[in-house]
Amino acid sequence: MRQIAFINGKFLKWEDALIHAEDRASNFGDGVYEVVVAYGGKPFHAEAHIERLLYSASQIELPVPYSPDEILDIILQAIREAEAEDEDSMIYFQLSRGFSPRDHVFPEDAEPTFYLTVKPFHPMPMDERRRGVKTVTYPDIRWARCDIKSLNLLPNVMAREYAKRKGALESLFVKDGVKITEASSSNFFAFIDGRLWTHPLSNEILSGITRGIVLKLSKKLGIEVVERPILLSMLEEIEEAFITSTTKEIIPVSSIDSLRLPVGEKTMSLIEEFQKLKK
Ligand code: PDD
Repeated sequence: MRQIAFINGKFLKWEDALIHAEDRASNFGDGVYEVVVAYGGKPFHAEAHIERLLYSASQIELPVPYSPDEILDIILQAIREAEAEDEDSMIYFQLSRGFSPRDHVFPEDAEPTFYLTVKPFHPMPMDERRRGVKTVTYPDIRWARCDIKSLNLLPNVMAREYAKRKGALESLFVKDGVKITEASSSNFFAFIDGRLWTHPLSNEILSGITRGIVLKLSKKLGIEVVERPILLSMLEEIEEAFITSTTKEIIPVSSIDSLRLPVGEKTMSLIEEFQKLKK
C-alpha cells in the first residue's frame, strides 16, 4: 500500500502533506482527532468514530466542514487511494481551527483544517497478546474534559514516555492518588470478584469505541459489568486486567507496577469474541 494524506479536499503523497506553521493545531492544540482502523480495507466502527469527532468538535465550538457521510466517503476514498483495499490500515484524521496569526481568541475568518492519513496497521500478534503487557501507574494530571478527544496530549505523551522508560507498554492514570481513570491512550478494565470493572463514562475519561464494544461482548458472554472506579486500594483484589483501544484492540495486562497478574480465561474469551467481529 501507499502512505497517503488528504488535506482540505486534496489527496497528496504523505511526504507532501504540509500544514501552515501558524495552524492553531501546532500553536494551541486547538483541534480534535480520531483514529480508525480498517481490517481488509473495511473501516471498523467508523460511524462511531465520526460521531465522536462531531461531539468533540461541538464541545470546543469548532464547526465541522463535512457531514458524517462525507467523512465516511473521504475515509473510503482514502483507503482506495492508498491501495489498501485488501490490507489492514490505520486512518488518522484531525480537525483544527485553521491557520491565522497567533492569538488565543477564535479567529473570525480562518477555515478549519481537516487532514487525514492512511498507513499500514499491524495488530499485535496473538502469541504476544497472550503474554500480556506491563503497565505502570502515573498521576492523572490531565484537564477536566478528558471526554473530548483533543489534540492536547502532553500529559498522555509524558505518561507514555514514563511507561517506556520503565519497560512497560502503558501508564495507568491515577486520579488524586485514589483511583484509576484510564490509560495514556487506552481504557482500563479489571476483573474483581468475577465481575468486570471499568471507570464510568464521565468528563474524566474518553468514551472509547473499543470500551463500548467490550461492554457489548461482556453482555453476550454473560459477564457482569460494574461501571465504577477501580481504586488503588483494590489492586490486590484484581484477578485479571486488560486495556482497550482502536489500535491495541484488547491487550491483557500482566503487571501493574510490581503487582503481577495472570492472563486469564475471561480476558482471552473477550479477545476471541473481538477477533470474530473483525471478519
Ligand atoms: N487512543 N483513552 C484515551 C486517553 C485514548 O487516547 C484512547 C484512544 C482510548 C481508547 O479509545 P478507542 O477505543 O476509541 O480507540 C481511551 C487513540 C487510539 C490514540 O490516541 O492513538
